[in-house]
Amino acid sequence: RGHFLRKGTVGDWKNTFTVAQKNVVSLEAFEIRDSDIFLVTYPKSGTIWTQQIITLLCEADPSNDIVYDNNLETMPWLESPLDMPDYSLRPSPRLFTSHLTPALMPPGLEDKRPKIVYVMRNPKDIVVSYFHYCHATPKLETPKSFEDFLGEYLEGAVLGASWFDHIREWYSKRDQYNILFLTYENMIKDLRSEVLKISKFLGKNLDSSAIDHVVERATFRNMKKDPKANYEFLPQELLDRERGHFLRKGTVGDWKNTFTVAQSERFDQVFQERMRGLPLQFTWD
Ligand code: PPS
Repeated sequence: RGHFLRKGTVGDWKNTFTVAQKNVVSLEAFEIRDSDIFLVTYPKSGTIWTQQIITLLCEADPSNDIVYDNNLETMPWLESPLDMPDYSLRPSPRLFTSHLTPALMPPGLEDKRPKIVYVMRNPKDIVVSYFHYCHATPKLETPKSFEDFLGEYLEGAVLGASWFDHIREWYSKRDQYNILFLTYENMIKDLRSEVLKISKFLGKNLDSSAIDHVVERATFRNMKKDPKANYEFLPQELLDRERGHFLRKGTVGDWKNTFTVAQSERFDQVFQERMRGLPLQFTWD
């Protein structure tokens, strides 16, 4: 069933952790519609938060006549489950979520010009959020220590691969694709403005009270108790509620409670090298 000398390569983790080849192949046949809406993020950047906003904006549209049981069903991840349902049967507009890089997405993003919402978050808060998430989900290996996990994250040896590559590759598509860039930190600072931005981008013409309703339901407090949005509906093998939750803290700057000064300096050095030439600013606290 196996050998000590199995493969002897660098990067074999990608064959297990990111996206199974089978699935990438299946996405090649995926037919994008111009009415599709994709939410794309690197893990732990504010995905389920933005899912809630997009879902509510679409549900508030008078032309919408389908309401799914929860946000995962409304906006399924493109890359999972591996035995992908036949999404061609879904009525338009279809909503999808993804952590994939542009190269792994289905073909047609440039020609069909579906709407893509890309959410970024400061990568120090991401790694802390991710570290806690690894404890909460039995599907991922529990890191030995934050130091270890930070090393893996900086190398891109985690599910979702390298944050630096993800940001760079998606940002490089800004003129080719129909893409709205948002940040988690701006959503924290002024949720209503960001909801309005998303609403406008999606072409929704909602009155001010409908927008207020979306904002209200997308606050951390309300989402945490919203069974359609808080991901507590996941089975035990995906979320061990004794060990954590998707809605954990929801703040900016939590990294300071975990990083040592040395870890922060090391991170800053890698950040400067890897982000060279990218005109992106992040809010760190
Ligand atoms: S995942 O697994 O990729 O889908 O995770 P993701 O949803 O991208 O990230 C989870 C973090 O987002 C925070 N979150 C929120 N923050 C503020 N307000 C709202 N409404 C909200 N919803 C989710 C969540 O708490 C995770 O961040 P941390 O720092 O761990 O709290």
